[in-house]
Parts: sequence; structure tokens; C-alpha cells
Amino acid sequence: MIQYEPYLLKGIDLTVKINKEIEYQNEFIEKVRKLNEGKKLTYSIITMGCQLNENDSEKICGMIEKMGYSRVDESKNADLAVMNTCCVRENAEDRLFGKLGELKKVKEEKGTIIAIGGCMMQEKHIQDKLKKSYPYFDIIFGTHTLHKFPEDLYNALKDKKRIEDVIDIDGEIYEGIPIKRDDKLKASVTIMYGCNNFCSYCIVPYVRGRERSRKPEDIIEEIEYLAKQGYKEITLLGQNVNSYNGGENYNFANLLHDVNKIEGINRIRFTSPHPKDFTEDVIKAIKECDKVCKTIHLPLQAGSTKVLKAMNRKYTKEQYLELAQRIKKEIPEIVFSTDIIVGFPGETEEDFEDTLDVVRKMNYEQVYMFIYSRRVGTPGDKMENQIPEEIKHERFNRLKALVETQTEKNGEKYVGSEQKILVEGTSKNNENMLTGRTETNKVVVFSGDTELIGKVIDVKIVRNAVWYLQGEIEIIHQLSKI
Ligand code: 5AD
Ligand code: SF4
Repeated sequence: MIQYEPYLLKGIDLTVKINKEIEYQNEFIEKVRKLNEGKKLTYSIITMGCQLNENDSEKICGMIEKMGYSRVDESKNADLAVMNTCCVRENAEDRLFGKLGELKKVKEEKGTIIAIGGCMMQEKHIQDKLKKSYPYFDIIFGTHTLHKFPEDLYNALKDKKRIEDVIDIDGEIYEGIPIKRDDKLKASVTIMYGCNNFCSYCIVPYVRGRERSRKPEDIIEEIEYLAKQGYKEITLLGQNVNSYNGGENYNFANLLHDVNKIEGINRIRFTSPHPKDFTEDVIKAIKECDKVCKTIHLPLQAGSTKVLKAMNRKYTKEQYLELAQRIKKEIPEIVFSTDIIVGFPGETEEDFEDTLDVVRKMNYEQVYMFIYSRRVGTPGDKMENQIPEEIKHERFNRLKALVETQTEKNGEKYVGSEQKILVEGTSKNNENMLTGRTETNKVVVFSGDTELIGKVIDVKIVRNAVWYLQGEIEIIHQLSKI
């Protein structure tokens, strides 16, 4: 038993402290495993929000499975029901409270342990609401205490008391948390935590703290390990990946070059960069690194310079378009995707037209569209000129119509071309068909042998079905290439 109080360890080398903390948690993993021995316990997990949260959930699952639980889909069948929450938009709140309502009866009948974690737990008003209206939860844990889940669960089981483990200081980066990945070919690797940008609509900097980057050697080691396990595609994750700071003279471009050298990995993606930090060396790295997919997620948020200023995005409409042009000049085959918010406070019809104008000019491969959602504690929430709901919806629908026409047209340009596809598995809708993705992230469905799963092959695109492309392969031709 290690005798120390994790958060009181002062004056000790940070790496030692972090390693000790993980060792300390491993002891709780062992304790819970012993407590549960022979019981065949199950758990369920619901993940809301972004890829970073999904990656956090994979770590929660890793810890839970080591403690002897096996996963089930439905929380009503689980002994431990976990919810990993998001607070970027309001609809996640409705979903959490709805789910908690359902779980009340399940808990009464089955004694299910209810654990709620993630971004929403960092918000005081949510904690208060939970305690007042849903007091039957067992554990709440925040974004900075995820690694302590084994200790929290052990205490909840042993003392049968409610555990509230949320801290408001930036967490350290804990290496070595067990991880149970959802996929066998594609893996997400978080390279940095937190955000320093404070876009005025966004709650993330308040709930995830300031930017902290993982050490390059830890990231490389994790990806080398993934490559050995047969993973082919890596997505580097962070709220703002191009502010990655791996130490003196080591930035995101250096990291791309180093990941590109890892044998066994075929594809590298990353999300999300911030347009204001898109430096020449990153553009050059994308161009030079053959495994880096020539597709960039470049969040626009709004097309009007006035709205961008109010959003604190630190670029103008013209600077955004100029950046995209510069990238396109260097890498002609590049395609872009984006995030757009409609109905930010003060957005006039003219401002919205600017958004449509950028969408037309950029001809995005994919657009993630959001209706502005007021977040307590952000500057946007305090702005007076909020847009009425019906106008927000009406603009959203107009943007959606434009995006759909573009998506359809964009699909057409693939017909007749040969695309490199990472074969991911059989199609959900038709087991006799295979499915995979182009470098530009378009889904392609085609017929072929399941032996091809996990390989990158050439597929001829024969039809544009809007949400996916239909392809064909020449079997003999393919086998000779593999
Ligand atoms: N309302 C609507 N969309 C938001 N996003 C972030 N905050 C909000 C908000 N308050 C969107 C942004 C971001 C994406 C992850 O979520 O477009 O890029
Ligand atoms: Fe939120 Fe802006 Fe940070 Fe992205 S860059 S997480 S939108 S504050």
C-alpha cells in the first residue's frame, strides 16, 4: 500500500507524482476486482459529445473492465451505469436528466450504481440540480478526476455513500490509464487537453481548463503500441491541436512528421485545428507527410467578420478564405470540413449571408451545423442581442439545404475515380457488402472478401448515393497489390 495523499504530494518530481497516482489507482482497481469476484457484474456507458469525450470514455471502460465488469448495451441491465457528459450545447442536459429519470426505477429494483462524469459535472449549477432533483446518483466525477474513478467506485461500494469528486484546478496529464478501445483499426489519441481561446460562445475552457500537451515520447509510444496491435488509422485529438506544445522547438508540425514515421500506421488525421494558429510549417507537414490525410477540419463558426469578432475567434472572413486558398495552393488535392454555429447573438440576415457565402466558396466536404446554445458563464450568454429561436431555426434550415446540395454535387465528382479505401468491416445494412472510407472520410460501400478488412485498397467509385459512395473492386487486381 502506498502511503501518501495524492493531491498533497508537493515538491516532488511531477512524473514521479503522476506515476505514483496511477499505481495508487491500480490498487483500487485490484480492490474492486476482489470485492466483485465471482459476481459476473455488468456495466453500461453512455457518451455524449465530442471525440475527446469518446476517448475519455474508452479510458473509463478500460478501468471498469479491469475491475471485473463486462459491458452491456442497456443501462437497465447494468450493475454500474456510467454517463460521460458533454456541456457544449443544451440538448445534452435534457438527455442526461431524461436518462436519470429512467434510472431511478432501475436503481430501486436492481441497486444499480449510477456514476456521472465529464464536462457537465464541472458546472456548479448542474451539480446543484443533480443533488436537488436526482439525489439517488452514487458518484459524480469531473474532467480532472477521471483517473480516480477506481478509488471513487471503491469508496462508493464500500461505504455505500455518495461520492462527489470534482475539482476546479487543471488536472495533470496521467499516462498509463487502462484503455478499452471501441474499434480495432482506427484509434483516437489525445495529444493535448484544455483550451486557452475562450471563444465567447464556448464552455470548454471553463470545464476542461487551460492547454496542457502530452509529451511527444508518450504520444509516439502509444501510437507505436497501437501499430503493433494492428491499428491502421490514428486521429490526433485536442481542442486546438495546432497549439500543441511538445517542449522547446517541438510543435504540432514536428509531431506530424514523427507520427508519419511509425511503421504499420497508414493514415493520420487530426481534429480540431484553430484557423488562427495554422502556421506554414503545419501546412508543409501535411503536404510532406504521405500518411497525413489530405483533408482538414477547419472550424469556421461564422462567415461574418463582425460575428467572428464578437465570438472572439481572432480572424476575419477574408483571413479565413485566404488561409484556405494558401493551403489549397500548396496541396491542391486538399478538401475541407467545418463547424458552423447559426444564430449567435447579434447575427443579422446580412451576417448570415456571409456564412452562406463562405460555405459556397469553400465547397466543404462536410459541415457540422449547430444552432447557437446559450451556455451559463460564457460571455455569449450575457450578450443582449440574442436571436429568437424561430429565426435561428429558419437560418439553420437554409444552411442545411445549401450544404445538402453541395454534398450531393461533391459526391458526383468521385464517380469514375479510383480511391484509396481503408476497409473497415461489413456494411451495417448489408452483411454481404464491405465498407470503408476514402482519405476524405467519405463512406464507400462495395462487394469484396472479408479478408480485405484492415487493408488499404483501390476502389473504383461507380455511383453517388449522396450519404455514401458505391464502389467496385477488381478482385484479382487487388490481391496482387496486397
Ligand atoms: N452553441 C452551439 N454550438 C457550439 N459549439 C461550441 N459551443 C457552442 C454553443 N454554445 C460548436 C462549435 C464547436 C463545436 C464542437 O461545437 O461549432 O466547434
Ligand atoms: Fe471552444 Fe473555441 Fe476552445 Fe474550440 S477553440 S474548445 S470553440 S473555446
